[in-house]
Amino acid sequence: MDLPPYISENVQLAPLTTFGIGGPARWFSAPSTREEVEDTLALASLLGVHVLVLGGGSNLLIADTGVEAMVMKLADGGEFSSIDVDADDGLFWRVGAAVSLQALVGATARKGVEGLERMAGIPGRVGGAVAMNAGGAKEGIGGFVVAAEVCDFQGVRRNMEPPELAFSYRRSSVRGMIALGFSLRFAEKREPSRVMERMREYRERKRAAQPLAIPSAGCLFKNPMGDSAGALLDQAGCKGMREGDAEVSRVHANFVVNTGRCSSGDVARLAFRMRRAVWEKSGIDLEPEVATWGKDGAFDRLFEPLV
Ligand code: EPU
Repeated sequence: MDLPPYISENVQLAPLTTFGIGGPARWFSAPSTREEVEDTLALASLLGVHVLVLGGGSNLLIADTGVEAMVMKLADGGEFSSIDVDADDGLFWRVGAAVSLQALVGATARKGVEGLERMAGIPGRVGGAVAMNAGGAKEGIGGFVVAAEVCDFQGVRRNMEPPELAFSYRRSSVRGMIALGFSLRFAEKREPSRVMERMREYRERKRAAQPLAIPSAGCLFKNPMGDSAGALLDQAGCKGMREGDAEVSRVHANFVVNTGRCSSGDVARLAFRMRRAVWEKSGIDLEPEVATWGKDGAFDRLFEPLV
């Protein structure tokens, strides 16, 4: 079959994730336009495979055996990579889903637009960040999103607005759709140097509290209501626990770091032990924040309730 230039076969996914784990995608598409997104969906349907949307690969654990699917990652530099400031007051922004979150954080801060400086240091792209309402423990990026342009898996495009976007802690209804772009509205502008200074402070605070220099998928578990998963895992003695090359970070116990050639099974087995340790110590069953793709025997127990 003749494939368009933006679609390839058997593409290694590990380098496209922050964990550095995962086998190949049977099919891989990097569309630059809305038309190429539609054509990718049509081809996947013809091939009889489902479509998985990859963003910055920062909250994802992919099986070493890879995925028999069409993995779609919006191309850099195409229709989904622009940042435009719309209104006269400079507070209304249109942002493509493929823009890196840190590029947006830096761009808003340089214009003195307040709000996203708290997201300094969070990896990934804007599409993934909005889909899972990334942010701190209390507030996420969803609070600034006033509209999302999405496409469903049949290729139908439309706009979604709150309350349909249904933002809550690490959740939104953008998940399950293909996000193409967003409109964001901010409340305040200040002296740019002050906003940039705060952005740097947040980034430093994050660097001190989290192992950002070693491959990981960020926090592995969601915070239970009113509590910190990191603190609970720490109290349960998880820091330094290992399975193969997967290790519970000694800096922050909710991070599993890939210290070498870690397998997907290593991470899943370690995550299960971490959950059990917290359950035994505090009676709380932690819920994974990280998404899993593909089949690894060790994934099954990861999402099963312990009770
Ligand atoms: N703590 C420990 N030991 C640890 C880790 C944390 O005692 O190993 C304590 C800290 O000392 C602090 C409390 O737990 O008193 C909370 O820790 P932290 O400020 O690091 O925040 P968190 O609740 O662990 C959340 C988000 C992070 C986000 C930070 C900062 C979740 C699961 N985690 O972490 O998000 O970066 O707040 O805003 O919501 C992510 O989602 O991937 C992520 C890293």
